[in-house]
Amino acid sequence: MEYKIKTVGVLTSGGDAPGMNAAVRAVTRAAIVNGMRVKAIFRGYKGLIDGEVQEFTTQDVSGIIQRGGTILKSARCEEFKTPEGRKKAYETLVREEIDALIVIGGDGTFTGARNLAQEYNVTVIGVPATIDNDLWGTDSTIGYDTALNTIMDCVDKLRDTGTSHERVFVVEVMGRDAGFLTLNAAIASGAEAAIIPEKATIAEQIDEALGQGRRKHKNSAIVLVQEHAIEGGANKVAEMIEQAHPDYGTRVTILGHLQRGGIPTAADRILASRLGCHAILSLLDEQRSIMIGMQNGNIAYVPLAQAIKQKKDIGTDRWNALHMLSI
Ligand code: F6P
Repeated sequence: MEYKIKTVGVLTSGGDAPGMNAAVRAVTRAAIVNGMRVKAIFRGYKGLIDGEVQEFTTQDVSGIIQRGGTILKSARCEEFKTPEGRKKAYETLVREEIDALIVIGGDGTFTGARNLAQEYNVTVIGVPATIDNDLWGTDSTIGYDTALNTIMDCVDKLRDTGTSHERVFVVEVMGRDAGFLTLNAAIASGAEAAIIPEKATIAEQIDEALGQGRRKHKNSAIVLVQEHAIEGGANKVAEMIEQAHPDYGTRVTILGHLQRGGIPTAADRILASRLGCHAILSLLDEQRSIMIGMQNGNIAYVPLAQAIKQKKDIGTDRWNALHMLSI
């Protein structure tokens, strides 16, 4: 059977996320099973510009489903943000006879893909992968569940020492502009407060969580702070707590890039496998410029422009739950 798309290119770009390898495996195998050739592009858009391309067989993706990071490497590429950079990238696609490009990454990756698609009429499909879970149109992004579990494990450990020493631990969590990791990790670890950019009134949040909880019956507390909720991050929040409650012993932990590593959870492997397969199936369906999303357990085709532009709502339910449970 003759397919319109004969060769697909696949790359990972932006911040790496656990499960990216499972997505690369799924894209590669689903493409080959459906009669397409696969060209792996290394180092994201930088590799596309520089022509770092290698044909993949099914064996090239053996034994990677359980590995964190990305075997294709990743990069944040300033050159691709320029028309000259995208021209070079397009020339690589033409030279390598790549008919469709599958990009595995987050918001920045999709913005680059959309620009390339608009300028050169390239078929692009996005597979959402970022620990931040900040993409509209998908309930979860690849890597989010693993990162959430990593944060929960860390906070559980901090809780042990926090209660022993009767201290307040202020823990800084990644997420770029979104509070999904912070709020959900706070619920999962029984934290006293989550400070996230989606909700204002930071001083009030601190006061409510610590003033009440600790005075009444708690001798320690955990406060999770989204990295960009407040200038100065966790250190600034710790300073505010110390000023308001000089009697509290306060310590700061910045979780940093350990949140991006580790063995992907089953949920992330399954999500990556399903999204990767559907990236290929969507090409057979003659789709282009879409993100493959997961909505209520079902695959959804989301226009790339919408996934990039719309802001994912964090809602009030989880926020309320945290507040009810942190007394
Ligand atoms: O988007 C993923 C992410 O880990 C964000 O949570 C964080 O703000 C950013 O990437 C850090 O980027 P870098 O690794 O380039 O410093």
